[in-house]
Amino acid sequence: MRQTSKGKIVTKHKSITLLIGGGIAAYKCLELIRRLSDLGIQTTPVLTKAGTEFVTPLSVATLAGAQVHSDLFDLKNETEIGHIQLSRQSDLLVVAPATADLMAKAANGLANDLASTLLLATDKPVLMAPAMNVRMWEHAATRRNFKTLKDDGILFVGPGSGPMACGETGPGRMAEVEEIIGAIQEALLSKISSPKLTTGPLAGKSVLITAGPTHEPIDPVRYIANRSSGKQGFAIAQAAVDLGADVTLIAGPCALETPRGVTRIDVESALDMFEAATAQLPCDIAICTAAVADWRTQSLASQKMKKSDTGLPVLELTENPDILKTLSAHGPQRPSLVIGFAAETENIIEHARAKRETKQCDWIVANDVSAKGDVFGNDQTTIHIISDEDLITFENISKKEASNALLRRVVDMINPAQVAAQ
Ligand code: C5P
Repeated sequence: MRQTSKGKIVTKHKSITLLIGGGIAAYKCLELIRRLSDLGIQTTPVLTKAGTEFVTPLSVATLAGAQVHSDLFDLKNETEIGHIQLSRQSDLLVVAPATADLMAKAANGLANDLASTLLLATDKPVLMAPAMNVRMWEHAATRRNFKTLKDDGILFVGPGSGPMACGETGPGRMAEVEEIIGAIQEALLSKISSPKLTTGPLAGKSVLITAGPTHEPIDPVRYIANRSSGKQGFAIAQAAVDLGADVTLIAGPCALETPRGVTRIDVESALDMFEAATAQLPCDIAICTAAVADWRTQSLASQKMKKSDTGLPVLELTENPDILKTLSAHGPQRPSLVIGFAAETENIIEHARAKRETKQCDWIVANDVSAKGDVFGNDQTTIHIISDEDLITFENISKKEASNALLRRVVDMINPAQVAAQ
């Protein structure tokens, strides 16, 4: 292993099999292959039939420096390298773009072309980078397939949110090449030696976590933001996955490494975060740590706003949806435990209790963000976990310790015997 200039860890002599699905994002795979090769990771490319409509086998083969496989019934290949061998010869299978069709096939165990056959036959970890139209991503069938694949231990990177080639906006954009590289490195380093935990007090529990700030665009270059670093939410995500939970972290813009073993969905605005969070339902536990902007601009300027002699621009604001409140009131799909956070500057406990009532969540974790508390971006914090029955305070602890303290209470609630046994 070596350290790159960006501080990322690179594994030498590792190889991946890259299954390129048929989507407009397939063009990003050319850059992906080139970057992987720079990092010393060998790529064996597999193109689906639809994939060949978006990138040519010749360009893929040239960049990979390897033959492109695309036909299940290529007898010449079967004699040289069978599909079973092809499915297992690399350290990791990466599906990018993972189209709705490929995800559906993999979720249902279909094996009617080379890519789906490799996914069924492999005994190696699989990482998918979904890419599709926002409606397809949000369709109940894709939600089901996504959940099934995650339950099966498939790793995911992205999708991101934003404008798409089809003209719509929302979650469904394939993760950027750098993110996919990060997820591949993560998988090559840790997943192989530590596969998804199937034990631990939270094994089998799906946990949704929102974290970080949101950015509310004003025009193409400006946005409204806040000081949230995302550290507390990311620490909770790591603590939950270490206890065996299946964790999806919906992260606003923040420059933090994805915690090992966590599925991360990057979003920009409160609306994106709302869509991504509600799309995760049903889940067992929701922990909303994100500092979601209360307001967004009523209308988004299509061009950069200019200074003018006619005076100052007026920003008309409109209210953002409340994610925590929506999850807490979600009827049959309501997670069995919903936890909110309350950053307060005065009368902390009193205000946090009132917030718990308003938001209808089960617990609220209050922290002091007055100048004295200075919690933003810091590693230290003081938290008060407030439920219907009690209030527990943990003073001057690290955000990691705060995460462990919170999750011990979660485990205690879900299965009291587990904590007693620890
Ligand atoms: O900003 P506020 O004090 O209302 O945040 C309290 C809790 O509500 C936090 O857990 C935050 O993540 C959540 N929240 C949310 N959606 C919003 C506003 C806040 O989920 N639009």
